[in-house]
Amino acid sequence: MNAETAAAPHLRLDSIVKTFGSFTALKGVSLDIRRGEFICFLGPSGCGKTTLLRVIAGLDPQSGGMVWLGNRDVSRLPPSARDYGIVFQSYALFPNLTVQKNVAYGLKLGRAAERARVEELLALVGLPDAGPKYPAQLSGGQQQRVALARALAPSPGLLLLDEPLSALDARVRLHLRRQIRELHRRLGITTIMVTHDQEEALTMADRIVVMNDGVIEQVGTPDEVYRQPASPFVADFVGAMNFLPGVLEAPGQVRLGVHRFECGGDHLSDAAPGAAVTVCLRPEDVQVRAAGGANTLEAVIESLEFLGPFHRARLAADGLGDARVTADLSANLVRDLSLASGRRLAVTLPRERLRVFEAAR
Ligand SMILES: Nc1ncnc2c1ncn2[C@@H]1O[C@H](COP(=O)(O)OP(=O)(O)O)[C@@H](O)[C@H]1O
Ligand SMILES: [Mg+2]
Repeated sequence: MNAETAAAPHLRLDSIVKTFGSFTALKGVSLDIRRGEFICFLGPSGCGKTTLLRVIAGLDPQSGGMVWLGNRDVSRLPPSARDYGIVFQSYALFPNLTVQKNVAYGLKLGRAAERARVEELLALVGLPDAGPKYPAQLSGGQQQRVALARALAPSPGLLLLDEPLSALDARVRLHLRRQIRELHRRLGITTIMVTHDQEEALTMADRIVVMNDGVIEQVGTPDEVYRQPASPFVADFVGAMNFLPGVLEAPGQVRLGVHRFECGGDHLSDAAPGAAVTVCLRPEDVQVRAAGGANTLEAVIESLEFLGPFHRARLAADGLGDARVTADLSANLVRDLSLASGRRLAVTLPRERLRVFEAAR
């Protein structure tokens, strides 16, 4: 194996386009996925996540572009030649077959080997005694675990999951999140999971692929996507965010209302001073106790909403006009400072936490 071979990604998508009639669902999507990665496709309903997964699977071939598995061009190969297991949102088990038969479905082994393999898989997904049962005798979560076992049975190189948890109730979902991650850790299988649930993606993925309207907006670790959103769309879709209208004064300096702020974001280097910008800041990054100085505002608390571990405050800051700043304040802080609506306080918008985007025109 030469160096180039060793470095080849497990899966490469090269300029994938997918049209349905006159509608373009994927507008040139390129992505490299490394062997063993856990990838989430994250985005709102209708953005093309399922379409992309089906292109990878060969279930719904692309209209343009190429799909590579290692060094193999699989763009025109049928699903059976692409070495993956797949799980859909709906359980999709054969209702008239036992769990044992469902899991064994794709296997071509002798009877004894098949029995052993099914046993191994059912143990792996935590359902060692489910073999003789029928799908209808299992809960939704149990059926998805059987579907996982079935997908993994032939030892595929790639595991594709299309919203596998979204039909389940919250408790089961949390449990299965952990179980799928643990399974991934033990098997090391390259996994792509589609989800519209940002929390699911943030907690499970090695890297998140944020999609919007047929394009990739950002690829990054959960921390990167959360801390350094590449676009206002990502900033808005993942987590809560303040969007404050401002004007670029100089590199690293913006004007918000009557105030001049320092900002750490350097991704606006080619925007001219005077450009309209949107300044983004997470509510939890608003600081209350910082001692005066740069980037500090006087504000009045308009409302304070109790959300358990923290309070979400709506702040009207002096000199910011109609803009409001949302700040998440810890329950301890609110108690220690006896904060309540109507109270005045000084808040700091930390320089290194401000991200600046050119305003949409
Ligand atoms: N078979 C199809 N025929 C026509 N349009 C489709 C078809 N499949 C998907 N689409 C459209 O493509 C877009 C992306 O769909 P999909 O990939 O299912 O989105 P997601 O999984 O992100 O919710 C949607 O606008 C959807 O209506
Ligand atoms: Mg979908």
